[in-house]
Amino acid sequence: MQEQPTTQRAVWSSKLGFILAASGSAIGLGNIVFFGANAYKYGAGAFYLPYLLALFFIGLPFMAMEIGLGLRFNRALPESLHLIAGRRGEFVGWWGILNASVITTYYIAILGWVVGMLLGAFGPLWRPSMAVPAFGMAEGALPNPFAYFFNMLSTPPTLLFVALMWALNILIVWRGTVTIEKAVKICVPLMWVFMLILIVRGLTLPHGPHGVRLLFTPNWGVMRNPDVWKGAFGQIFFSLSLGFGIMTAYASYLPKKSDCNSNAMMVSFLNCGFEFIAGVAIFTILFSLSIVPKASTLAMSFFVLPSGIARFPYGVTTFGVMFFVLLLLAGISSSVSLVEALASSLIDKFRISRLRALAIIGIGGTFISLLFTLPLVVDPSLKDDGTLGLTLLDLSDHWAFGYGLLLMGLAESILIGWVLGAGKLRETMNAHARIRLGPWFDALVRFVAPVVVFAVLAASVAQEIRTGMYGSRMATGWPPMAVVVLLVWVVFTTGGALLLSAPNKGKEAAP
Ligand code: TRP
Repeated sequence: MQEQPTTQRAVWSSKLGFILAASGSAIGLGNIVFFGANAYKYGAGAFYLPYLLALFFIGLPFMAMEIGLGLRFNRALPESLHLIAGRRGEFVGWWGILNASVITTYYIAILGWVVGMLLGAFGPLWRPSMAVPAFGMAEGALPNPFAYFFNMLSTPPTLLFVALMWALNILIVWRGTVTIEKAVKICVPLMWVFMLILIVRGLTLPHGPHGVRLLFTPNWGVMRNPDVWKGAFGQIFFSLSLGFGIMTAYASYLPKKSDCNSNAMMVSFLNCGFEFIAGVAIFTILFSLSIVPKASTLAMSFFVLPSGIARFPYGVTTFGVMFFVLLLLAGISSSVSLVEALASSLIDKFRISRLRALAIIGIGGTFISLLFTLPLVVDPSLKDDGTLGLTLLDLSDHWAFGYGLLLMGLAESILIGWVLGAGKLRETMNAHARIRLGPWFDALVRFVAPVVVFAVLAASVAQEIRTGMYGSRMATGWPPMAVVVLLVWVVFTTGGALLLSAPNKGKEAAP
């Protein structure tokens, strides 16, 4: 008999509590700005088909699988995978959690900047222009809000905001499900309301509907570009919080008799529904004001959309403040989910107190997040990332998000499909489900998912080789930063996972 949890595990107070928390995790910056940036980059309408295919063939099955794992084993991801494949499985679980932690550190740095921008939105952000001394730029050289952002990026108050965001995250997971539920009951409904207000605003702007047309006009030619597919699969993984170990941790707090498949569908559709309307809001704002966005998430959140809002006929401050509050609510309800997944993994494995786990995470996390605010100017012309901190962020994102999540997906599908046996997990998933999955699901997990994810990964590596490994980041006069960050990322995730998956003496001693 496999070991049973020694302590009573927390349980969500209701199904609604889980749905709010899990959809709060899924709906984040990814839905609001990243989707729009991606869709624009890949030719708007061209993005939809790959995106929907990725959702149905990969997103939904993985969501159900990750929830199923939590229901079956009642543990966070590393311990769940340990029960499937011993130490090797556990290694994969820790690897995924550590990779997600890298993402979380820069995600929380971004939330610190959101606070900085939010304060600006009460006034200075909307002034015409300001000098940016750090970059040697005079007033007028860079329009606001660009100028405001680069002035705010590394100032002492901003560092404080980053630390505060960590504190807030720790506070929200302080008592696990209890405090998380309290937070998401406020955050999640509010962000839907704000998003709906923004979409109405966008649609009623002059020419707003043009943006919608662009968003939905398919462009078949672009689909031959493997980048579009990588973008779509990456987007689905990130947006649904898959490959993070989050859904397994959250589902481990569900009552045993929960309906796995309906939970999975509800969370996925809430997430993609939100993404869909966010896309409409963003495209209407962009095209009404004929702004051509630079396709990056940061640019979209901090320059492009605020410039659009600055040109609203009225209510600039109100809508601006609302936009940044929306980013904050959506972002926090996402980041806490990883803090919880990491904390519960540490607690499950080392039997340490929650307080201790959170102290380790909070201190370590704040320190790493602050690296992304390093002010050193590496690209004074602002062609790429400007500061060292932003370059580190961009490259960490390139590896942890661009590769890490998909690698985790590949490993999960192999562990579940082949080692545990997809049919076994399907039994758990179907046990209390109204919609039961047939044997086709096993084929999907065993063959389709790994092959598709592998193909996307292989295409990305080929692309990497063609472009000299993200070559542009070597143009700033720095040593090949992409390689340096790649090494740090590999050591952190792989080395960390090796250490964490080592047999734990304290626990092994107990029966
Ligand atoms: N799904 C989130 C989004 O779309 C991303 C996310 C979820 C996340 N949990 C996270 C990011 C934890 C960082 C840390 O934005």
